[in-house]
Amino acid sequence: MTPQICPSLLSADFARLADEVARVPSADWLHVDVMDYHFVPNLTLGLPVVESLVAATDIPLDCHLMIDDPDRWAPSYAEAGAGSVTFHAEAAKAPLRLARTLRDAGARAGLALNPGTSVEPYADLFIDFDMLLIMTVEPGFGGQPFLTEVLPKLRRAREIADARGLDIWLQVDGGVSATTIEQCADAGADVFVAGSAVFGAEDPDRMIQRLRTTAAQASST
Ligand code: DX5
Ligand code: ZN
Repeated sequence: MTPQICPSLLSADFARLADEVARVPSADWLHVDVMDYHFVPNLTLGLPVVESLVAATDIPLDCHLMIDDPDRWAPSYAEAGAGSVTFHAEAAKAPLRLARTLRDAGARAGLALNPGTSVEPYADLFIDFDMLLIMTVEPGFGGQPFLTEVLPKLRRAREIADARGLDIWLQVDGGVSATTIEQCADAGADVFVAGSAVFGAEDPDRMIQRLRTTAAQASST
């Protein structure tokens, strides 16, 4: 699969979201970080903003829910038209039921793992998900340094998915940049979130293309 790049709007100017979206026409997905001051020590945006974004762009939304009780709140993001909805394994009470609910509502279902959460206990659940998000920082803030400690887990996730012949996308999020994306692609990631690297660049759209090319080269070697 061609590497997919998802610029994170967390690093965009929240007062000018539509203008910021217009700066990244090459994005495969727009990554939308929903934080609730409970699951993570930060507060961002929620359903009304996601509904407005769905209406404002044709680029599909990749909603990353860093919230408590996703069993209760996640389905509305799928119903609002998000193309992909990812919730955290650490927060969900019934992840399989929630994945099915999201898919039934027409979204792709994603499962996110914090840096300290092992992948093995979730291996049997892969079949019910379209994407596994391996966090490469502790969730909550943009601009943090990439945690190389997570790479072995990413490799193991890739091995599990390949051994079982599963078509599950492997996404990395946190500290992904032109210097770290190669290691991620080499370890088996195929979907890449980048916030500060994209919106901090002079030309965000050119950075997306550069990230995509670098990842494609790394995964083909
Ligand atoms: C962090 C968020 C990320 C964040 C990444 O908890 O989930 O999506 O925006 O930002 P960068 O790419 O700057 O690390
Ligand atoms: Zn995110």
